[in-house]
Amino acid sequence: MLRLAARARENACAPYSGFKVGGAILTKSGRVFTGINVESASYGLTCCAERVALFKALSEGEREFEAIAVVAQMPGGPMPCGACRQLLIEYAPEAILVVADANALEKYRKFTVSELLPFAFKDFRILAGNCSTDLS
Ligand code: THU
Repeated sequence: MLRLAARARENACAPYSGFKVGGAILTKSGRVFTGINVESASYGLTCCAERVALFKALSEGEREFEAIAVVAQMPGGPMPCGACRQLLIEYAPEAILVVADANALEKYRKFTVSELLPFAFKDFRILAGNCSTDLS
């Protein structure tokens, strides 16, 4: 997984930050989808590598995930941003996250998605009964 993420990283579109990231997500059915960070001149449109990998898998119909790997040139490996953590807790809550420095893949670190985002916001529908608007 880390090697696939590292290979994908070579395609990263990071002309603004110069920080290339590669990701790979493993589905429970055994398929792997890779991703890269894609940056925009309108900076806020940037999409992280792990999110691209997740979206590719979701768009191919996958819904259950085993693991997600993220690689960049950074001591200890890159930690996902808050937006990616939110999407991972919603769509890949059981996945193990593995991060590594592109120069030292063997020194990977592993995390659970829930330890990355404790007390996560997962479902607003529980609050629907408290609203005056009927969402059903
Ligand atoms: N980035 C990722 O793709 N994944 C991470 O886990 C951390 C950050 C990207 C977003 C942006 O293109 C660049 O790294 C600098 O923040």
